[in-house]
Amino acid sequence: MAPQPSDRNCAVIDIAHGDTLQRVTEILHKGGTVALPTETVYGLAADVAQDDAILRVFKAKNRPANHPLIVHLDEPDRVDEYATHIPSIAREAMRLFWPGPLTILLQRTEAISNLVTGGRNSVALRCPANEFFRDVVRALDSGLVAPSANRFGHVSPTRASHVFDDLADRIDLIVDGGETIHGVESTIIDFTTSIPQLLRAGALPRERISELLDIELLEANGPSRAPGMLESHYAPRSRVQLVDSALAATELEESLRRAGHRVRVLEHSDNEALYAATLYAQLRRADADAIEIVVAVVPKQLGLGAAIADRLNKAAVKPYD
Ligand code: TXA
Ligand code: MG
Repeated sequence: MAPQPSDRNCAVIDIAHGDTLQRVTEILHKGGTVALPTETVYGLAADVAQDDAILRVFKAKNRPANHPLIVHLDEPDRVDEYATHIPSIAREAMRLFWPGPLTILLQRTEAISNLVTGGRNSVALRCPANEFFRDVVRALDSGLVAPSANRFGHVSPTRASHVFDDLADRIDLIVDGGETIHGVESTIIDFTTSIPQLLRAGALPRERISELLDIELLEANGPSRAPGMLESHYAPRSRVQLVDSALAATELEESLRRAGHRVRVLEHSDNEALYAATLYAQLRRADADAIEIVVAVVPKQLGLGAAIADRLNKAAVKPYD
């Protein structure tokens, strides 16, 4: 059941409101936590320079301390505050794809707290396309950690109301910027290895990265490389069953319904951009509607399809089984 409203619930303010930037910056400056929209999903932001604020993020999400956070920047120039020994191919990636849904793993500097990296030598950096988000970084004059603004193990939020449902009584403010554009998280590339590795398929297709940088990307999935990428990470409460065609989905739906189950097929599997953009909202709605079994068509592992397939495979694993 969704959390009930309480008087400890935080405010939700419109991104376009005249004093929103100032209000957000003040809270973050004082070490608070604010949910902000990005072009991928909503993030729970805190000042990377304040350990207390970072601890509040982990606590609000119920997130284990060994899951490192992404540091969000306003522009590539700020990278050198947080990263060192940056290979030229990584600089080229920033030039080509920032601002945008690409997160880059680099060797960290001393400026980065161990809380952010989980004690690792690398730091994940990203420059989001959302202009308001970058304005906040600029106004604060500091990078922002911003994990997806959901409770740990839940699907990421693509609307302010999703953040409210998960975190309203645990954070200081939610900025409502409407629905996010991509609906799946950023693509993560590790540039600390001699051959760059794909750590997480995401909103920026790997084929575009390979093509424009003229490089091969190695596959590097698994908890040891990106500790937040647990198998069961993106799981709704409804059971998710995967099929590989719309026809198979209809057949499975009918047989499950005949067996007495509350079942629903996810929409838009024929349009990858729309499928990605609506995927998490559909999974949350299935939970809210007490759907027992969600049937999902897994797209081909190409372009945005790879990110959708990855999240569906994770959603199909129950968190506590
Ligand atoms: O699109 C996105 O990237 C969103 C928006 C809000 O920017 N953020 C996001 O953050 O998805 P989060 O914390 O939910 O996922 C970050 C992932 C985790 O899987 C984490 O393990 C990995 O990035 N990561 C962060 N720093 C890392 C590091 N130093 N080494 C390996 N993996 C790292
Ligand atoms: Mg997340």
